[in-house]
Amino acid sequence: MTSLMQIDILTLFPQMFQSPLSSGLLQRAIDRKLVSVNIHDIRYYTHDKHRTVDDYPYGGGAGMLLKPEPIFEAVEALKSDLSLSQRGQELPIILLTPQGRLFSQQIAQELSQHSHLVLICGHYEGVDERVREHLVTDEISIGDYVLSGGELAAMVVIDAVVRLLPGVLGSEASPLDDSHATGLLEYPQYTRPPVYRDWAVPEVLLSGNHARIAEWHREQAIMRTLQRRPELLDKAKLCLKEEQLVERLKQPQ
Ligand code: ADE
Repeated sequence: MTSLMQIDILTLFPQMFQSPLSSGLLQRAIDRKLVSVNIHDIRYYTHDKHRTVDDYPYGGGAGMLLKPEPIFEAVEALKSDLSLSQRGQELPIILLTPQGRLFSQQIAQELSQHSHLVLICGHYEGVDERVREHLVTDEISIGDYVLSGGELAAMVVIDAVVRLLPGVLGSEASPLDDSHATGLLEYPQYTRPPVYRDWAVPEVLLSGNHARIAEWHREQAIMRTLQRRPELLDKAKLCLKEEQLVERLKQPQ
């Protein structure tokens, strides 16, 4: 059986992926053949004695750049391994870089629709611009901060995408309820015991009244979003009653 998704990662540090891919949800998805992940060492695609992957920037400037040749060759090698039917499909080749579009739940959902992703982990001060211009089809940043390389960013993207693939989460957990999937932050949740150190679980949750509970969840999600990330409410889809709740909550108490 072929997996739902194939992910190829190009990196200078293959060992960084060992632990994240051999624990928890990702390991389970790999074991169940829902996703297959291949790690490619960029250094393998060098030809000189010193296995050089980086070089000084033309025109001067701080730091070193990743050379284009090993990256092009690595991508071309994995493309040449594709079956005929795979070749007919669009293949996103994604560079992880602080200059990319800002990663979000929406982008995770978009990527989860593909059957194959290639992730290129940048390093040093960046990559030769020709990689961007002539190889890469997308650039993603996981936030406005600079990591020492794209590996951790690639892992963030993989984790967020793989958990959206059908069958990866247990049947009860639904990625549709996640914070951000609804456009709202998630409501507060409780488990047993019903009272812990005098702190009681909200009575409504013990009531067994599913309609009231659903309403409470929705209200709490709206309140939490208003308190913590009010800008998200502008895009969230609220009904008239919920809009009115937001207006009421915005009034000074
Ligand atoms: N590489 C270095 N910093 C990064 C970031 N913020 N996102 C993605 N890749 C990166």
